[in-house]
Amino acid sequence: MTEPARFSQPYYAVAWHGDINGHLRILDQTRLPSEIVYRDCKTVEEVWQAIRSLQVRGAPAIGIAAAYGVVLAAQQATQPGGPDAVLKACDYLATSRPTAVNLFWALNRMRQVVGRVHYGNVRDLQNALLREAHAIRDEDAAMCRRIARVGAQLIHDGMGILTHCNTGALATAEYGTALGCIFFAAEEGKRIQIYADETRPLLQGARLTVWELMQRHIPVTLICDNMAAVLMRQKRVQLVLVGADRIAANGDTANKIGTYGLAVLARAHGISFYVAAPSSTFDLALPDGKGIPIEERDPREITEPLGCRIAPEGAVAFNPAFDVTPAELITGIITERGIIKPLTHATIANVLGSPRKSKEADQ
Ligand code: MRU
Repeated sequence: MTEPARFSQPYYAVAWHGDINGHLRILDQTRLPSEIVYRDCKTVEEVWQAIRSLQVRGAPAIGIAAAYGVVLAAQQATQPGGPDAVLKACDYLATSRPTAVNLFWALNRMRQVVGRVHYGNVRDLQNALLREAHAIRDEDAAMCRRIARVGAQLIHDGMGILTHCNTGALATAEYGTALGCIFFAAEEGKRIQIYADETRPLLQGARLTVWELMQRHIPVTLICDNMAAVLMRQKRVQLVLVGADRIAANGDTANKIGTYGLAVLARAHGISFYVAAPSSTFDLALPDGKGIPIEERDPREITEPLGCRIAPEGAVAFNPAFDVTPAELITGIITERGIIKPLTHATIANVLGSPRKSKEADQ
């Protein structure tokens, strides 16, 4: 039996190595928990592939990786077509995954850098893009710390908390969103018991969330996704805490497939259901969740999980990677600007500002 890989220092899902001539290093999440493998991405195509294949995943981390991917594209850009090549790279990276809006948010920031100034030479553009990518990364780290502090107030000594998918340091610049709240509460000395859904089909809960909690010695019990109702019935769970990939202006929230079912169960059992997400995950141009594009992935992720066939050859499988939880099932959303509760267009706009142009619209 292989021991889970262990770090003696903080781990980063995404990190830039070197100066403007440097490269992006990602922690390959498809290899966790058994192996710690870093991959160096030196081209925009390698970043696209890393996002598509979930080597880097989680809404904020995808956005950060894409921003650094634009820097890699700029390294190859030559005068005088440099800015156009960079904009094309933004278009290309935007096709890597459709649901997490942080990807489009980050790419739009990179596009604005290209549009903002008339650059005398390509080196100026490259430096400005690297500065922006670093800013996106650093701002996400700061937002996660604030979300954690705010969200930890909802966590009380002795609580059982159910979470889904992975929302920790692996999904963000550092620390995490929903899992960040849990880390913070544990650091405050609160005794908590976490239940982690395994999160079929790609098992981010089993492989990544359990691993992150074990790294921090926080008590965690892994369950299959279909066991949540029993736990709730047995009163072992007092709070459900999840992340988000895109939140519409009314609070409808797209997150990993299975989240909606958990929200229904939480309501049926009278349990609070909170979402934790940075402001970069809101898409206020969408009035509600109906417009959120849902990624459909290869059915073989279901029929042949981890390369092992479990269904008959030719079996038909449906594999949406996300679902949308209606706002009325969500108790509140924990953001870096405070907790939004109850969820209405008005309470959300109060905290985040008024609706703006679609994050995809600038492409
Ligand atoms: O397909 P994934 O692994 O990228 O899905 C990730 C999730 O659904 C997370 O819950 C979400 O991105 C929030 S990460 C802080």
